[in-house]
Amino acid sequence: MENMIQNRLERLKNCKPAILPSLLQCDFGDLRGEVQHLREAGVEVLHLDVMDGQFVPNLTYGMPIVAGLKKHTDMFLDAHLMIQEPAAYVDAFADAGADMITFHIEAVGGPLQAIEVLKQIRGRGLVAGLALNPKTALHDLDQAIPYADGVLVMSVPAGFGGQPFDPVAVDKLRLLRKSHPELLLQVDGGINADTIGDCHAAGCDLFVVGSAIFGIDDYSAAVRRLRAALQASSSTL
Ligand code: DX5
Ligand code: ZN
Repeated sequence: MENMIQNRLERLKNCKPAILPSLLQCDFGDLRGEVQHLREAGVEVLHLDVMDGQFVPNLTYGMPIVAGLKKHTDMFLDAHLMIQEPAAYVDAFADAGADMITFHIEAVGGPLQAIEVLKQIRGRGLVAGLALNPKTALHDLDQAIPYADGVLVMSVPAGFGGQPFDPVAVDKLRLLRKSHPELLLQVDGGINADTIGDCHAAGCDLFVVGSAIFGIDDYSAAVRRLRAALQASSSTL
């Protein structure tokens, strides 16, 4: 099991800093075509936003989309569960083909419950991530972080694409990077060519992007622009 986790972690670490398109605003009528375009743009990891209409007011999709994607691509599948009771669905998402599962600290009772879910995810050989909303304090994660492979810092309240970036995420990323040099850090919400650089400079590895890719016809051009902004920010470190 530990080997499977290490292989998956290696894959992620080898492509960082990485742009992770969020499949929320894509054309779900042509999912195969969307994946093909993203592949051509050099994308290696897909971010899958799963919402249940309970933990967040929005409702998206679940395991069948993950299983469908798995059949058509060998890209790394990162499932961001914005759902109540993530523990009840870990096995189903693992069976569907997710490589990484991230759930919200706010959706479980507290750090002790979070630790159990992280163990459950790793017990399936998957990379385990813990997410927190902009209003949640970093110290709420303290006890659970040693059991996580990564932390997803939300730069918008979970639920919808197209919201403005909240810079509180940059401070959290910087603090996390300082205290946990090995932790995979991911940021999600309002990431574009103007906001990605500060997150990168703060130590973030994985950048989830919705509108700044799917709002533009040419995905390759969108990804190139984001990568250029990443490079520009690393050179000022
Ligand atoms: C928000 C989702 C994000 C979202 C990002 O709840 O987790 O992944 O799709 O979209 P943008 O980049 O438009 O903020
Ligand atoms: Zn997301």
